[in-house]
Amino acid sequence: MLNAMNASNHVRIVEVGARDGLQNEKTLLPTDVKIALIDRLSSTGLQTVEATSFVSPKWVPQMADAAEVYQGIRKVPGVSYPVLVPNEQGYERARAVGVSEIAVFTAASEAFNRKNINASIDESIERFMPVMARANADGVKVRGYVSTVLGCPYQGEVAVSDVVRVARRLHELGCYEISLGDTIGVGTPAKARAMLHAVAQEVPMAALAVHFHDTYGQALANILACLEEGVRVVDSAVSGTGGCPYAKGATGNVASEDVVYMLHGMGMHTGIDLDILIATGAWLAAQLHKETASRVTKARTATA
Ligand code: HMG
Ligand code: MG
Repeated sequence: MLNAMNASNHVRIVEVGARDGLQNEKTLLPTDVKIALIDRLSSTGLQTVEATSFVSPKWVPQMADAAEVYQGIRKVPGVSYPVLVPNEQGYERARAVGVSEIAVFTAASEAFNRKNINASIDESIERFMPVMARANADGVKVRGYVSTVLGCPYQGEVAVSDVVRVARRLHELGCYEISLGDTIGVGTPAKARAMLHAVAQEVPMAALAVHFHDTYGQALANILACLEEGVRVVDSAVSGTGGCPYAKGATGNVASEDVVYMLHGMGMHTGIDLDILIATGAWLAAQLHKETASRVTKARTATA
């Protein structure tokens, strides 16, 4: 059992493979395959399956079919399907197909934000204001992402005080949950834990999530350190797909299969059927014509 600051044994996994995973894949997946992926994920017991993003298709071509994907998926009762929205135009596109939960995103690093969304941190927050106001009026839930919380591909070190400031701002604006993203996967456990601890002085731990990419192989260790600190929401991507188009060299998110295997092994609950998740990850890897990045799926599907 985990000797943690939070006694709860339940961890909510936010599955980001269909968005964070696919957005960086060079192979453009057909819309019906994306729909099949999300439908499969819906049958694993996951409570949150990020579905797509309503960003500019010129910036992220893989997400050009966001409306068709969202319209095509089975909406399983009890499962939420948030989508990324960068501005009011994205909000309108999302609402036109009945989206009821969105995620806005910014970064703790000015340089990264400029490359990712062509705006400073303050400008990006300005853009969210009308989106937040409309979401509030429409009863749409809003999650917030802070990227580059443990390092930036352009500026290098990122001050923890910048992460705290941006996370607090998103929370004040009405985001029900703030996901802290190690976009390029450079963090190590003590640093991850210290960053989470600092943010939790300003935003309640119950409103925080962690989001690790596994570039340097530190993601599971970082998650464990953050669980010890009390976080109970973890973002991950089935099969460990993806990365960030505006963070060169960043590999995919930590694989959901590996996170769930670790959590169940520690006696924690996720509500997820690991076998179905593994089958989904193996299926997705085949669709992308690449080897899965999940160690658990590799171990379970090995034939020799
Ligand atoms: P811009 O070029 O500054 O915006 O991009 P603009 O307002 O000047 O618009 C340019 C064109 O895009 C216009 O079309 C707009 O209509 C169109 P044109 O007149 O040239 O034909 N446009 C749109 N089209 C569809 N949907 C929209 C939309 N907005 C504008 N919503 C913008 C600014 C924010 C739009 C752009 O930079 C963008 O879309 N960026 C998205 C980048 C992205 O998706 N990055 C990955 C997600 S973040 C991430 O992965 C990190 C995370 O996982 C956490 C972590 O790991 O840290 C969340
Ligand atoms: Mg990410």
